[in-house]
Amino acid sequence: MAKFERHVFICTNVREPGSARPSCTHDGKGELHGLFKDKMKDAGLKNTVRANKAGCLDQCEHGPTVVVYPEAVWYGSVKPEDVEEIVTEHLVHGRPVQRLMLVDDCLNTPSCPHRPPVKGKA
Ligand code: FES
Ligand SMILES: [Zn+2]
Repeated sequence: MAKFERHVFICTNVREPGSARPSCTHDGKGELHGLFKDKMKDAGLKNTVRANKAGCLDQCEHGPTVVVYPEAVWYGSVKPEDVEEIVTEHLVHGRPVQRLMLVDDCLNTPSCPHRPPVKGKA
């Protein structure tokens, strides 16, 4: 079997209500993960791209969060209806979906305006 060319990590983390940070799913069922798998299979990517359920990716305020490696393209606020566009545009044609990408000011930086000012993770 050929090596996977890409991995798509889809956060399925669930936190208790009232936690300090939000979580990407409320039920942990991984609806987005299932959709990615289905759409990738339909697009003929089954053997070249792998959809992985992930724990917290530390971009909780931008969730649901998805990251595509090896190019490290981060997507935020991904909805079920966005999955087909990511698969077709990014994974098939190599064109990341700009409108869903997290901006640099939000990635692993205290300057992200969406993060709580208090350090520490719930
Ligand atoms: S809970 Fe999804 S990135 Fe943290
Ligand atoms: Zn942000």
